[in-house]
Amino acid sequence: MNKTLKSKDHLNGNFSVPGDKSISHRAVMFGSIANGTTTVHGFLTGEDCLSTISCFKKLGIDIKVNGTDVTVHGKGLHGLSAPTEILDVGNSGTTMRLISGLLCGQNFNCTLTGDASIQKRPMGRVSLPLSKMGAKIDGRNENGKLLAPLQIQGNSLNAITYTLPVASAQVKSSIILAGLYAEGTTTIIEPEATRDHTEIMLNYLGANIEHNGTEIICHPVKELYGKEIFVPGDISSAAYFMVAGVICQNSQITIKNVGINPTRIGIITVLENMGAEITLINKKNVCGEETADICVKTSKLKGTIIEGDIIPKLIDEIPVIAVAAAMADGKTIVKDAQELKVKESNRIKTVVCELKKMGIDIEETDDGMVINGGKGIKGTVCESYDDHRIAMSLAVAALVADGETTITDTQCVDISFPNFFEFIERL
Ligand code: S3P
Repeated sequence: MNKTLKSKDHLNGNFSVPGDKSISHRAVMFGSIANGTTTVHGFLTGEDCLSTISCFKKLGIDIKVNGTDVTVHGKGLHGLSAPTEILDVGNSGTTMRLISGLLCGQNFNCTLTGDASIQKRPMGRVSLPLSKMGAKIDGRNENGKLLAPLQIQGNSLNAITYTLPVASAQVKSSIILAGLYAEGTTTIIEPEATRDHTEIMLNYLGANIEHNGTEIICHPVKELYGKEIFVPGDISSAAYFMVAGVICQNSQITIKNVGINPTRIGIITVLENMGAEITLINKKNVCGEETADICVKTSKLKGTIIEGDIIPKLIDEIPVIAVAAAMADGKTIVKDAQELKVKESNRIKTVVCELKKMGIDIEETDDGMVINGGKGIKGTVCESYDDHRIAMSLAVAALVADGETTITDTQCVDISFPNFFEFIERL
């Protein structure tokens, strides 16, 4: 499916975005291994999270979906059963990597696969620490890299102390989940803080995970307990409207009930550094996660440097930040963002290539990109590469482009934001 968009002379709206993807995945996974019922409200019914539900159903868990309410009838830490089919994670790296950690400590074997994009993404980053814990994981080997499909043979696990070579919440979470099944206390050392939804939610359900500076210490527990979980709006989805509201003329947008976990708000810090007017109101703490309504207004932006420990706090937002940078006066430099190369697409290449087509002065570097902003954006035909975040970022660029923009293969937005284009039309 292709979408053609025109620029808008103002954007106004007061709305909520769909539930947080990272938290929705975790609610189903952790609810499944908790004792008793977990009721999830505000669940993201995007394709990635539906893949997680489908995998846990195949692992013997009864899960009911009613709109954005999901009821998970958890069977306890040792209640999963051997699947009779291959577990298919679709496009979801979070499902693949977290579930690997969970499955290597079970008393059965299984096979995990996913779509063409997933089969290219590195899995050695999880199999390496998990193997040190005693896990038996095998897969496709391509030029020394371990790729899906993965075969996981359940085994008994031992605790480890592991320093993450890359800042990745998926790898950290995978080890934490294996740690729930290991003998002893597992310690993980992060090079930079990454999203901590796993730690927050597992503790909310009865785990004993401590944070001590850069160390995450997972003490063994006998059981987790099912509870009610309220999922806040996804800041990664709100990001498109934050940028749109700031770069479109005559605009004012309020996005209600968004998760503002400190490990996720790099986009707010960067847009503020660039000169954006952003206000957070109605701050709350829900199930351990901070939330707020985010208000943005048309603002004059200037270029900035984005590097170092803020990168994991905005890694998924870099494509749309590049659009903001194109509308800012001066140069924006993104550094230390090599991880973009192993996302749903190589997002350094795909962002640079498509924004260039729109007339933006943008160059690829080995660990990011350089954008010389303030030179305007022109409408043209662009590709999504079946990457949801590329499709949505291009749509934001289209809102301020001269002339029409056509984006090809836009159905991929269903991965994280079903109805994204209806939201754009309604603004
Ligand atoms: C996620 C972690 C990040 C992020 C992804 C979701 C998670 O990936 O890019 O969209 O839910 O833990 P990495 O852990 O690979 O950085």
